[in-house]
Amino acid sequence: MSTTILLDCDPGIDDALAIAFAVGHRSIELAGITTVAGNVGVDKTTVNALAVSEFTGAKAVPVIRGCAAPLLGATRDARDVHGDSGLGGAVLPPPAREAEPGHAVDYLIQTIGAAPGEITLVATGPLTNVALAVRREPRLAGWVRDFVIMGGSTGRGNVTPAAEFNIWADPEAASIVFGAGWTVRMIGLDVTLQALATPSVRSRMRECGALGSELLLPALSQYRDSAASDPAVHDVCAVASVAEPSVFGYAPALVEVETAGRLTSGMTVTSFGSGSPNASVATSIDSGAFWDIALSTYRELAAAMG
Ligand code: BDR
Ligand code: CA
Repeated sequence: MSTTILLDCDPGIDDALAIAFAVGHRSIELAGITTVAGNVGVDKTTVNALAVSEFTGAKAVPVIRGCAAPLLGATRDARDVHGDSGLGGAVLPPPAREAEPGHAVDYLIQTIGAAPGEITLVATGPLTNVALAVRREPRLAGWVRDFVIMGGSTGRGNVTPAAEFNIWADPEAASIVFGAGWTVRMIGLDVTLQALATPSVRSRMRECGALGSELLLPALSQYRDSAASDPAVHDVCAVASVAEPSVFGYAPALVEVETAGRLTSGMTVTSFGSGSPNASVATSIDSGAFWDIALSTYRELAAAMG
């Protein structure tokens, strides 16, 4: 049985790999992609989402542009990690189509509201679109089948000692999202820093045809993720957790987002054992199984792309 997902993202090298994983995995149906400013500005994340979905053969998946700036603070990007285009060294053909008319926030509310209990929302960028959606339509929290984010950490951050990028880039949005009354399935640095594209993983990507040689490998070749020795494919973990739940282990926790700290803004302060959890926090990953699944998904997608 397949799971229908909406992917809210900021491609972004690992977001691009997450899109490819979602397109390629046989138990995922990718119903739509919404974009947000994050790794690069929203114009670029939108073009990248269109280019990656077209390149991987998912031309029919709608792409809808979202917020260009965080709710309150200054706009911050991660061009130093993902390059000016957002896709590292990958240069894909320019997309033939444009984003759908309308705004990502409306699209999320309408699409999830039209099929309550059926759609899993996966967010792999700053949480600006999701925060606005759930503020405008609080019933969204009860309509999702599941809600998964790549974001946060129970320990150290990657962009500051305290904060992970997606939370740090819009901490007020993250605070709204964690307080919205649903259980946030948090795939944070605790597990994603164990999903490293090591030299041996990258050599297996050479078996992935044009998908490997034109997207996966050139994108990763210029991924400057200084928190890890090899590139960590954070966002792929979030989508993989939907497709392959047994690869991850979880613990319930109360997660609160620091929005006021001078040095700790964007920190996900995590209390395990709290009597009122709002999150299911990923605490373990089987990295070998993760890569076996990711690489076989990419190989199958490469074969389908021809
Ligand atoms: C997260 O930040 C972004 O740079 C990546 O795309 C990922 O979503 C990792 O901290
Ligand atoms: Ca991302």
